[in-house]
Amino acid sequence: MSLHDAYHWPSRTPSRKGSAIKLNKTLLDHLKELEFQFTVPTDLLKRVTERFVSELKRGLTTQPGDIPMIPTWVTSCPDGSETGSYLALDMGGTNLRVCEVDVQGNGKFDIIQNKYRMPQALKTGTREELFDYIATCVKKFVEENHPEGDKKLEIGFTFSYPCKQASIDDAVLIAWTKGFDIDGVEGESIVPLFSDALKRVGCNNVTLNAVLNDTTGTLVASNYTKPGTEVGVIFGTGCNACYIERFDEIPKLHGYRLPADMSMIINCEWCDFDNQHVVLPRTKYDLAIDADHPRPGLQTYEKMIAGCYMGDILRRILLDLHENGVMFANQDVTKLRDPLAMDTSVLSMIEVDPFENLDETEQLLENTYGLTTTEEERHLIRRTCELIGTRAARLSACGVCALVLKTKKQSMMIGTDGSVYNKYPHFKERLEAAFKEVLGEEVGGKVITTPAEDGSGVGAALVSALQAKGKALTKEALDKVRK
Ligand code: GLC
Repeated sequence: MSLHDAYHWPSRTPSRKGSAIKLNKTLLDHLKELEFQFTVPTDLLKRVTERFVSELKRGLTTQPGDIPMIPTWVTSCPDGSETGSYLALDMGGTNLRVCEVDVQGNGKFDIIQNKYRMPQALKTGTREELFDYIATCVKKFVEENHPEGDKKLEIGFTFSYPCKQASIDDAVLIAWTKGFDIDGVEGESIVPLFSDALKRVGCNNVTLNAVLNDTTGTLVASNYTKPGTEVGVIFGTGCNACYIERFDEIPKLHGYRLPADMSMIINCEWCDFDNQHVVLPRTKYDLAIDADHPRPGLQTYEKMIAGCYMGDILRRILLDLHENGVMFANQDVTKLRDPLAMDTSVLSMIEVDPFENLDETEQLLENTYGLTTTEEERHLIRRTCELIGTRAARLSACGVCALVLKTKKQSMMIGTDGSVYNKYPHFKERLEAAFKEVLGEEVGGKVITTPAEDGSGVGAALVSALQAKGKALTKEALDKVRK
């Protein structure tokens, strides 16, 4: 029996009214093949989640596993009494921001900020170029907003890459993610790299007092404005989550004399889930993305679900269709061959094309890639975008459901941020539908994602405030409680 004979159309409802597709046999056969590869049925979602739960647990022990479950040393969320002015630096995948946050207590704050686009070349340049660029942005901000020049300022750094943290004021990069590939940073603490750069550019009145992940900032900032929030998730260029765990549930930290009922935010760094390839249904496109990646074998989960890769998945499918003689016959596909040619916004635009003949998609493909398409082909392309976007949302849901199951909660409030969550059409609905499939209507319906307050800015400032109150543990504080 061929793959196609075995194929059943997925029973999910289409994402919009009127997306019924009439395709010729060749296009339909290829679509069925893609449907087969990209559809994740409920029982598989449940299996992925089950495996996820056991990997989350393993990560809290000293046994080797895929998910590192990194202690952040932030031992409390804000209680509303935090006040003061703090600098925050946010290095995400796309932008760099320098902010000053006036924390006013009881969920209130004011923020001023400068935003800079990270030049693409910096992502693969030298480490000095990267850190000098960051330090120069900080210097400009400080000169503009503190012209007096001699005031000592402390800065919290949201560095959204997987780091081992021995304390709140230290962070050693494990591996670059999100398209960065700079020698001499992996395995190094970013604290001296950044502090030295501040000195090099002559920014002498700023010191780094806290390093945090964007998920931690998201959780802390969301908890500040919506008390009761227990999880922070980013669905963006990268994908990751953090949550609050009791100290006695973290066996790998038993070398510290800390109260058993104390809690700590754990940064899951779940991008590496299933690097062992036990459960995730990888397609040949996922395998190809991995093989061509500077870190093959790593970040298996993220490569299937994050904004950094969704465009590339579509690009590879389109090239494959071309090479199989299905589309763009006798056309020049050179532009499509550029690995950076397609980002996730292309899928978003195609998914929301309001015209029955997919006129906007036609313009987009023609103007950006010089490709002409028939209406039928565009329907196949749109359906492909739906498949990629739906798979991303459904597999993303597994990580969240695993946190619900691991913590044995019957409901969960999740501070959520990231471009995919905020901008990708239908992502939230698809995510929520999958919560219910995995956890059941009752509990799944009480897993609530809400758009986070600016986690990387406000969150970093709040973590600085917590550090000042002794609730985010520094190296000095930890030296006193090490057994
Ligand atoms: C990547 C990074 C992680 C970050 C996430 C969201 O997965 O490794 O640290 O939290 O992207 O930005």
